[in-house]
Amino acid sequence: MSRVKFLDLKAQYPLIKDEIMRKFDDILDRTGFVSGKYVTEFEKKFAEYVGVKHAIACTSGTTALYLPLLAKGIGPGDEVIMPVNTFIATAEAVSLLGAKPVFVDIDEATCNMDVEKIEAAITDKTVGIIPVHLYGQCVDMDRVSEIADKAGLWVIEDACQAHGAAYRGRNAGSMSDAAAFSFYPGKNLGSWGEGGAVVTDNDELAEKMRLLVGHGSIKKYYHKVVGGNFRMTEFQGAVLDTKIEFLEQWNEGRRKNAHLYMQELANVEGLRLPHVEEFNKPVWHLFVVRVGNREAFMDALKEREIDCGIHYPFPLHLCEAYAHLGYKEGDFPVAEKVQKEIVSLPMYAELSRDDIVRVGECVREILVESSVATVSQ
Ligand SMILES: Cc1ncc(COP(=O)(O)O)c(C=O)c1O
Repeated sequence: MSRVKFLDLKAQYPLIKDEIMRKFDDILDRTGFVSGKYVTEFEKKFAEYVGVKHAIACTSGTTALYLPLLAKGIGPGDEVIMPVNTFIATAEAVSLLGAKPVFVDIDEATCNMDVEKIEAAITDKTVGIIPVHLYGQCVDMDRVSEIADKAGLWVIEDACQAHGAAYRGRNAGSMSDAAAFSFYPGKNLGSWGEGGAVVTDNDELAEKMRLLVGHGSIKKYYHKVVGGNFRMTEFQGAVLDTKIEFLEQWNEGRRKNAHLYMQELANVEGLRLPHVEEFNKPVWHLFVVRVGNREAFMDALKEREIDCGIHYPFPLHLCEAYAHLGYKEGDFPVAEKVQKEIVSLPMYAELSRDDIVRVGECVREILVESSVATVSQ
């Protein structure tokens, strides 16, 4: 039996390869390698896709988080609230500017930030909140906005896993001051290298970030502010300008696969399926289930040649890199418990029905027959 891959990027090549190669040839002919017509075209399409006025392409999702923070002038003495269960980049963007990430625990059902814990984390140093639409499902943004408005804070969405996700009919990335997207290759919309975009409806913020992305200048050598080199290359622009046309189709494929997983894995004792809030339309960047005795479960999957992963093995307060913040075990009990149980199963648009059925059979076999694991329901 063949291996079930966690992600198979080659499966999408037939749709896009010729077009991208044609654009690569064009770039080579024109020797215009940085921030040219493909980047500009892509920025237009992406802003339209998200439903905002501006998209500024940049080097990564981490940069896309960093740019609005830089534009807002955050620095030492400032605190920014975020979930404890996220990829480290959310916190790094804050730390790179000398400000302090402040973590809040997660909601047990969705694994997203527990919005009811935000208010308790606000101090007189808090300047903003970064909700993370983890695994492709949006945070309860109405509640986040309500809390932020009351406390006079800005909100920046980390939408790095949520291209195309919707919350009460609104798109991820369109519900705050600015939002960051990652185009790391494995994302729902991925480049062939590194890439990101920051989006906003705010003209002034957009103008500042547009300057910061390219050494503080629009006109070469006329540097208005101190920025940096965070520009997207034309090769990545060409890949993304091509791939964005298929994003809806790919997201639909992921939704169909998630639905099939839900059917195949229904009523398996010891397994907890992902929970989707009724107001959300996720894009299933990851399909994360929960089991007890997770390591044995993962070993059993691997023996059956089914790839799996953990997103993420450590809540950020227990990451070595953030030891200096002084948090300790027990500070975020929900995240700590959930983190020991989560397993990400293979998920991508082209994953076949047969593969999903096989994963379902194997999970049942592992949990029912060998009763490897149980999970708190
Ligand atoms: C939630 C989240 N935030 C930020 C990032 C950072 O994106 P990048 O890897 O493109 O810098 C990622 C992607 O890895 C992510 O998943």
